[in-house]
Parts: sequence; structure tokens; C-alpha cells
Amino acid sequence: MAQATFKFPKDFMWGTATASHQVEGRNTNNNWYQWEQEGHIIPGHTCGLACDWWGGRWREDFDRAAEGGQNAHRLSLEWSRIQPTPDRWDEDALDYYRQVVRGLHERGMRPMVTLHHFTDPLWITEQGGWENEKTVGHFQAYVEKVVTALKEYVTFWCTINEPNVYATMGYLMGDFPPGKGDLGSAFQVMTNLLKGHAAAYHAIHKIQAEAEVGLVVNYRGMVPHRAWFPLDKLVAGLQSRTYNDFFPHAATTGKLKFPFKTLTVSEAQKTQDFLGINYYTQDRVSFSLLAVKELFGKRFFDPQDEVSETGFIANHPSGMYDAIKWGRQFNVPLIVTENGVEDSTGKLRPRYLIEHIHQIWRGLNHNWPVKGYFHWSLVDNFEWERGWTQRFGLWELDIETQTRTPRPSAELYAEICQNNALSSQMVEEYAPEVLEKLFPG
Ligand code: FCB
Repeated sequence: MAQATFKFPKDFMWGTATASHQVEGRNTNNNWYQWEQEGHIIPGHTCGLACDWWGGRWREDFDRAAEGGQNAHRLSLEWSRIQPTPDRWDEDALDYYRQVVRGLHERGMRPMVTLHHFTDPLWITEQGGWENEKTVGHFQAYVEKVVTALKEYVTFWCTINEPNVYATMGYLMGDFPPGKGDLGSAFQVMTNLLKGHAAAYHAIHKIQAEAEVGLVVNYRGMVPHRAWFPLDKLVAGLQSRTYNDFFPHAATTGKLKFPFKTLTVSEAQKTQDFLGINYYTQDRVSFSLLAVKELFGKRFFDPQDEVSETGFIANHPSGMYDAIKWGRQFNVPLIVTENGVEDSTGKLRPRYLIEHIHQIWRGLNHNWPVKGYFHWSLVDNFEWERGWTQRFGLWELDIETQTRTPRPSAELYAEICQNNALSSQMVEEYAPEVLEKLFPG
């Protein structure tokens, strides 16, 4: 076999992604803390100390990332810390975040900051959360405060992480707070999240002309289960438009395309400087009259699929290619803001990582505008309603002792980042079973 190397463009961003509630620990003033206390997640699991970033362990974790050649990191801010009550800004919390983003620069990593990653302050929840249009104005005030405080260190902002997941899980499927199952509420929340994004976009640019601002969607390929069956095609298309296209389309055109109506929010037009794509997996969709909440499309994994440790992810590297191909229609730079797999033993992750990064390289060869890749995640962290049952880290975390232990993918990812390339030698060492597929001949 010939030795070969897939090279990435100069200045390509390599990093990992994290979110405040999942890594900080000791967050007791948001809707997720309350949800955990009420016993909605896996019994006995709470966020607790998480990765103890609030206690300062972000320093050692950033050292690991920097030593592994990462040149960027995506993190989020905890609104409930910065604005614990409607009438109070916590300057110590802002100082903490200033130290964190400065800490990234000191280690040669560019911060990408997410302003909202699933959690809301309790006082926002008490006022009806994102079902209440007033939340849009509150969010804007919070954004203005933090952008002013951090603008010296951050120019790269994600407004809202996965508004499609937030609305679906919280207001349709009921696994996230507030645990509703109501299409009308979900659509209301989608509208207000989009307005929140637009308000944040304009507010940031007013404060910082050079800012790059975008939203982050969770992209799932929706494949009609029976390719020959028109109703499967119809519902797969409907799901894909509502789940995948809705937000980036609205942030381009100002049109909110719900399944049976379209609203116009003109201030949302042209409010993305880039699009963040979180890609993990793809679904099959088949028509079912029973799947009302899923717009009559039942979603499931193909029984032939290779699935991850807890059955959360079906391994479809080609879906990464599809995701970035899909993202091109919005005519902005694309960033893979999350991708990864839960795998406590490191059996699947090296191959998953290699094959997904290979698909990005394929896209780059067509000149598709992908600017960076952020792996989820650096260290095992608190995985929402799945608690600690899922281990997404390049480093394993012992939550009792806070000890970190590298998994095989930590070394592999470091080699990729340091070389800005994926080589046949790396594949031979970490996932020889796909060597012939990726480097034929
Ligand atoms: C994404 C979330 C992220 C993490 C991964 C596994 O949907 O944005 O916080 O939980 O899934």
C-alpha cells in the first residue's frame, strides 16, 4: 500500500467543544439543576462537580488540548451565573470567564464562545422560558453585557446551540426541561429562539464590528426508509425541512417555514456570518399515522447499522459529507462545531474520528468552505438526561477523584491536529480495518 496524507488547509481550526453546565460543576441556578433535583434523569445521576472547571480544572484540561496541537476551543457561558437574578450582574462570574478565554489565548487556542447551550437561569424558567417572548429582550441584555466584558478576547460567537434540539427535546419529546409534549409550544419556542438569535446577532455587531456570529444546528440526515414509497419520502422531507433547515433558512431569509404556515421575522434576515453544524448520526424515517409529534415520520436506526455503546449513535461517516454538502446552500462558511461518539473503552472512537474527518477532507477537495472541526468532547462530561452513562471524552474522567486518563483517540487526535493532516500511517496504527477503504491500492 502506498503511503499518503490527506492535508487540510492552512489555518484550519482544530479543537474540542464543551458546554458550561456539562463541565463546570456546582451550577445550581438553572433549569437543568432543577430538572435533575426533580428526578427526571437517570436515578442517582446529577451534574455535581462535573469536570470541576468552576474549581479551576479548565487550566489542566486546556493544557492537554494545547499539548495535543489544538488551536481552538468551543466553550459556552452560563447565563445563570452571569445574571443570577434579573436585577443583578455577577462581576466575579464575568471575571472567571475572562480568565478562561484569556487562558485559551495564552495556550495558542482561539476561543469560540456559545452564548446559550441548553440551560436557562431559573428566573427565566419561572417567567415561561422561551415560550415567553420577553425572554428575547432578556437574552439580548445578557448578550450585550458579556460581549462588552469579553470582546477583548473573543470575536467568534455562537448565539444559540442546537435550537432545534432544545425545542424538540424540551417541548415535543419531553426529555429535556420543561418536559412538554406539545407541537404548538414547540413552534412558539422555535419562533422566540430565532428572534433571540437575531437580536443577539445585531447586538454583537453593534458592539464589535469585526465579530463573526452564527448559530449552531444539530444536523441529522433523514433517509426515507423505503426509497420506493412516496409517503416515506414525504415525511422524511418534512422532517428534514423542519428539523435541519428551519433555523439556518430563517437566519438567511427571515422566513420561518413551519410545516403548514410561514411567518416572517424580517430582522432575522442575513443574520449568520457562518453556520455551525453538529453532526453525529443519521436516521431512517418511515410514514406512521401514530407518530403525530414527529410529523407522521417515525425515526429509527437501520437494523443493519453499527451503533455506539449505548445505542445513541449509528455510525454513518458519509452523513458528515452529506451534512456539509447540505450546509453549502446557506452561502456562508461552515464549521463542524460538534462531532463525536460515546465510547468508554475506545473501541469505536478512533475509527469514527478517522472516517468522519476523512469525509470533511473529501468536502474540502470540492472547495466546500469548511473552516474547522471541534470534537465532542475533550473530557467525559455530564450528558444531560443520559447523565454519566455516556462517555464522549478523548480523556476518561473518574468523577470521584477527578483523575483524567487519555483514551487512544487523545493521541490520534493530537497527531491529526499537530500535522494538520490525516495520514495512512495514522490509520494503519489506530484503525487498520479501514486502511484499504481510505487508501486503496
Ligand atoms: C449535542 C449537544 C452536546 C452534547 C452532545 C453529545 O446535541 O449539543 O451538549 O450533549 O450532543
